[in-house]
Amino acid sequence: MNEQNNFQQLFSGFPLKGYRVKNRIVFPPMVCFGFSDDHGLVGPKNLEHYRLRAESGAGIIITEATAVLKDGRAAPSQLGVWSDEHVAGLSGITEVVKRHEAVSILQLHHAGLVTPAAVSPVQFCPSADPEKPTSRELTAVEIGVITDAFIRGAERAREAGFHGVELHGAHGYLLNQFANPLWNKRTDEYGGSFENRMRFATTVIKGIREHCGSEFILGYRLGANTPALEDGIKTAVYLESIGLDYLHVSHGGNLQNLPRPPKGFDFNWIVFSGVSVREHVNIPVIVVNEIKTPERADFLIENRLADFVSLGRPQLADPFWVRHVQKGEAVNACLSCKPRCRWYESNELCPARKRLLNRQD
Ligand SMILES: Cc1cc2nc3c(=O)[nH]c(=O)nc-3n(C[C@H](O)[C@H](O)[C@H](O)COP(=O)(O)O)c2cc1C
Repeated sequence: MNEQNNFQQLFSGFPLKGYRVKNRIVFPPMVCFGFSDDHGLVGPKNLEHYRLRAESGAGIIITEATAVLKDGRAAPSQLGVWSDEHVAGLSGITEVVKRHEAVSILQLHHAGLVTPAAVSPVQFCPSADPEKPTSRELTAVEIGVITDAFIRGAERAREAGFHGVELHGAHGYLLNQFANPLWNKRTDEYGGSFENRMRFATTVIKGIREHCGSEFILGYRLGANTPALEDGIKTAVYLESIGLDYLHVSHGGNLQNLPRPPKGFDFNWIVFSGVSVREHVNIPVIVVNEIKTPERADFLIENRLADFVSLGRPQLADPFWVRHVQKGEAVNACLSCKPRCRWYESNELCPARKRLLNRQD
């Protein structure tokens, strides 16, 4: 029991596969564009970024979306795992994370249709988008190449010392594009039925299991509304049945069919999606989005609505968010910038960070 704060559930241990996670707090994947460069190698800024959050005390640290292929990046300075050259730098991250006894996961990513022109003149995707003339439907052979890149990325993550990987299957990126019938109009074995739309993810998952072994943690960032919540739940149940170890439930990158939380449910529809998914599976579920405060995070755990809670922007705004909460100290709160978090452009634009730096002067 923790004597210094009132958040006993939040700071209770919980099993994840073969590991006992020291608390329920996850630092979710949060890209830090500008920390690396066109080669996608881990640099000093990335190391410091993860060192601080690990030292603070998050139980699970999921390293940001890391590109499995150079032409599938979401930005020119995204971290990469497309070559053996990336392993040494990534090992630096696992070293600092494990030093603080956190579970260390790498998120594997391909942007597909939303790959920016600055990365690739062509956007490879399940089905070409008529409104995007530079998009092009992947051939079955090319899908095989990307599948291998995900598997090889997972192998490199294991070589770098990660306890596991999380597949980015949310936010409208490639895996999510295949799963969603609104984006996937294919008529071959990768489109049409649920089984066909999940074939790409299934082959990646089975390949990773085969090459990385049964001890390696394999998680999935699920876009719950793909396209509607009942489809997300079906996908979750299916992913559990093929051996996924946890689900990290977020949104599906589309604003149609948004689930409506019942009256009195004091969290947003993304948290509601995670809570709903959890009712249908037996593997741990990480719930996320605008949880914001330790009181709300503890509530979700205490009431068995979530197994783990991700606090993203709060831990960007205050690298020592977990330590402050654990010690009963004030946190440097995120200011919820609109229309979106300034970290997407640069961490230096974050007003909460500026406030923190001024305080330390
Ligand atoms: C700057 C920034 C970067 C993000 N990068 C990623 C990412 O790499 N992968 C991912 O799955 N989600 C990413 N997200 C979404 C977060 O993981 C998280 O779901 C979101 O911030 C909502 O949680 P919060 O309200 O606790 O911040 C990012 C969000 C922000 C604001």
